Amino acid sequence: MPIIEWRDDFKTGDASVDHEHQELIELLNTLYDSMVEGPPADDTVRGLGEVFVRISAHFALEEREMREAKYADYPAHKDDHEDLLDQIRDIMDAYEVGVFGDQRDAFGDNLQNWFVNHFKTHDAKLHRVFGH
Ligand SMILES: [Fe+2]
Ligand SMILES: [Fe+2]
Repeated sequence: MPIIEWRDDFKTGDASVDHEHQELIELLNTLYDSMVEGPPADDTVRGLGEVFVRISAHFALEEREMREAKYADYPAHKDDHEDLLDQIRDIMDAYEVGVFGDQRDAFGDNLQNWFVNHFKTHDAKLHRVFGH
């Protein structure tokens, strides 16, 4: 059962951006499913690290565009990116110390909320302003 379901209101108005967002969600879902209770698996810890890097790279690209364009909402948008990265770090930590199972549903809800809100607000606005 994927923790984040792709929904139409995730769409930003740019098909290639939506495709990339969809890929990031799929990666996270696959990993999340592999995180079972019990001792952490090396593959999953490594996989989480890879997802973290992929998402960071996506954010870095958006942030560079915003800085170059002196985009007024850059600080708020970047703060929201940092918030997701913090949440993923928390998941990685919880998984590595074996308490992930207790908080799985809460983590899932938080991630779902982040994606719904970020795509609908920050990313939709960014891609509308930049026209891509
Ligand atoms: Fe994005
Ligand atoms: Fe963004």
